Amino acid sequence: MRCIGVINQKGGCGKTTIAMNLAACLALLDKRTLLVDMDPQNHCAVGLAVPEDQIERNIYDVLISARSEKSLAVNSIIWQISQNFDLAPAGIELAAMEPQLAGKDRREELLRDVLAGLGDSYQYVVIDCPPSVGLLTFNALRASDEVVIPVETGYFALHGLIRQLETLTILRQQCSQPISFKVLASMYDVRTKLAREILNELRKNHKSDMFQTVINFNTKLKEAASFGQPISEYDPSSKGMRDFMALAQEIIESEQPHNLEKSVESVESQLRAISKTADELLTESQQKLGVRSVRGEQQDKKISLQEKIDNFYGVRQNQGKVEFVALYPRAKSVLLAGDFNNWQPANTPLNPQGSNGRWSVDLPLAKGRHSYRYIVDGRWQEDPYNQNIQPNEFGEYNSVVEVK
Ligand SMILES: Nc1ncnc2c1ncn2[C@@H]1O[C@H](COP(=O)(O)OP(=O)(O)O)[C@@H](O)[C@H]1O
Ligand SMILES: [Mg+2]
Repeated sequence: MRCIGVINQKGGCGKTTIAMNLAACLALLDKRTLLVDMDPQNHCAVGLAVPEDQIERNIYDVLISARSEKSLAVNSIIWQISQNFDLAPAGIELAAMEPQLAGKDRREELLRDVLAGLGDSYQYVVIDCPPSVGLLTFNALRASDEVVIPVETGYFALHGLIRQLETLTILRQQCSQPISFKVLASMYDVRTKLAREILNELRKNHKSDMFQTVINFNTKLKEAASFGQPISEYDPSSKGMRDFMALAQEIIESEQPHNLEKSVESVESQLRAISKTADELLTESQQKLGVRSVRGEQQDKKISLQEKIDNFYGVRQNQGKVEFVALYPRAKSVLLAGDFNNWQPANTPLNPQGSNGRWSVDLPLAKGRHSYRYIVDGRWQEDPYNQNIQPNEFGEYNSVVEVK
């Protein structure tokens, strides 16, 4: 049984999406797979259409009773999702586990002990973790032979790669057994040339510490979860499906890691090196870009390059107006709908800015909080360059702008 923890203290970097779809694809490749949800938010059940109100017992009950006479077996909480694919759901009670077990001996090893009781029922166990580093994540860590660290590689996220890897410092203090750690680039935006170049370079330099597979940003993955299906059921022909099949295959083909003497310290320093390379490449590319634009526009005053790049997409405010800027090189029309136009996009198009794929519009908006979405060639979506989002009633997300 190979046990794979999906760990990163950063929320929204794709852990649950990866855990669910990796498990689904391993199952599709004939591997008996159990997905264990250790996040009190129980997102795996939601994303796999397990009715939450009918979950009577969850992994909390198993863990909390593990060392008592009336211990509850993992088997008794399992939901079958599809052939070869089972889920051990989480529950909100998990959030209280840490204080309840304060001072208890070997409390970080409960999950490991419990999974050991499964014997050979499963070939793979995938563990989804909460976005924090505490008892639940330590339990996942102790139970894992391998750890997948999803790292969001959208353009903006690359700036703070090191922050995404901070988890490692904490794990280092907690981890005694040998584990293989590997970074998985997630939410990769292939449309951004810079992100593309950086990823290629990282992969060249840090081959053994990163998965060859990259999980691209693919809205089908988001849609699949909102329909309660893994991508293998929702859209088997999607790019998201291709990525997860490739990941499952890469994991199956990689032998159980054998260079286990590799210490966590050395893994940590390798990950730091990855992050440093990313920062260097980013700075280098920005400098190149700066030289070109300064010469090209014959400006003697140096523009802040960072400002130039950061302002390229997203929303910015300028003297009572809000500018919406998006990059859609292949789009034929980009419209804007929001609470400010009664969600009627027809009269608020973004205008193409030359032939570089950049679209923008200036709107005078009242002070306060506004929600909006783009309609790109007829398809509604959130603004991919605005990280301020909130769920809407359709199970999707609206982008949000706060006008000051
Ligand atoms: N590769 C991807 N492409 C598009 N959307 C994604 C991708 N990965 C995750 N998402 C979306 O981003 C949000 C956060 O992802 P999630 O997997 O829940 O992260 P975490 O579990 O780390 O908090 C979800 O809405 C999810 O559907
Ligand atoms: Mg999650």
